[in-house]
Amino acid sequence: MNYRHGFHAGNFADVLKHLVLCELLRLLTAKDKKLLVLDTHAGTGGYDLSGDLAGRTREAESGILRLWGAPKPGMPDAVARYLAAVAAFDRKFGGGRQLPMHYPGSPRLIRAGLRPGDRFVACELHPQDALALKREFAGDRAIEVREEDGYRAVRSLLPPVERRGLILIDPPFEASDEFERLQRALKHGLRRFATGCYAIWYPIKDEEAVAAFLAGLNGLKCLHVEMHAPPAAPGKLAACGMTVINPPWKFDEAMRQSLPWIANALGGRAGISAPAAAA
Ligand SMILES: C[S@@+](CC[C@H](N)C(=O)[O-])C[C@H]1O[C@@H](n2cnc3c(N)ncnc32)[C@H](O)[C@@H]1O
Repeated sequence: MNYRHGFHAGNFADVLKHLVLCELLRLLTAKDKKLLVLDTHAGTGGYDLSGDLAGRTREAESGILRLWGAPKPGMPDAVARYLAAVAAFDRKFGGGRQLPMHYPGSPRLIRAGLRPGDRFVACELHPQDALALKREFAGDRAIEVREEDGYRAVRSLLPPVERRGLILIDPPFEASDEFERLQRALKHGLRRFATGCYAIWYPIKDEEAVAAFLAGLNGLKCLHVEMHAPPAAPGKLAACGMTVINPPWKFDEAMRQSLPWIANALGGRAGISAPAAAA
């Protein structure tokens, strides 16, 4: 457990992931029915971009900070909403400068998107980050923070009593068998809760492993989105993707508008594909 998300907060991978997350939350909460959100690998609530960890790698400079400086005319609505969510979090910590200094993690973005009566379970295995998350949300009855293996929670929590759910799976990919673990958890999740919306982040380093993972989803209703961006430093991650299983209506359209725009702003390129679902 060496991975600390603080080193990567606000990088291009976070931009892709959090844009997707904000849009999924918006669309899934548009319906007047309760929702469970499970964040299997939560990290902490937010990150200080000038702090020790983010300050050392400065990955946000080629991610959120570069996007922040992009010209606003023509900005797709989903991108504007994502940036507004980042700005709202930054303001809480005394932002208001030209660039955000504080970047929200998935738990904060999810919490901000929930309605009264929705439920949120956040799992984090790193003891320090789990404790920070517990402290941050102490007394907030809408969120349950668990120091627990998020893959295990996929088995124990699904299907939710709400019958509607968003499951964000965002592993660190430190272990060489992460794709296998992810696939096993997903199989269990889908067996228990086939109609859930699953949003899964993956790095694109080993293209064969990615292709095999995505091929394993054939027959499901999915949208795969990818972002290739100039690496923050030589040898650093240069491409990543997310696959969304059972995406809500209009999600595809929002991504087709937003991703090319973001890729252009970050000096990279985006890819979107929707494999044919089983009849
Ligand atoms: C990529 S980071 C999460 C970032 C966060 N989802 C966000 O978007 O802001 C992955 C996190 O998973 C934690 N982790 C690693 N293995 C885990 C597991 N099996 N269950 C739960 N958390 C785990 C790591 O400590 C790390 O904080």
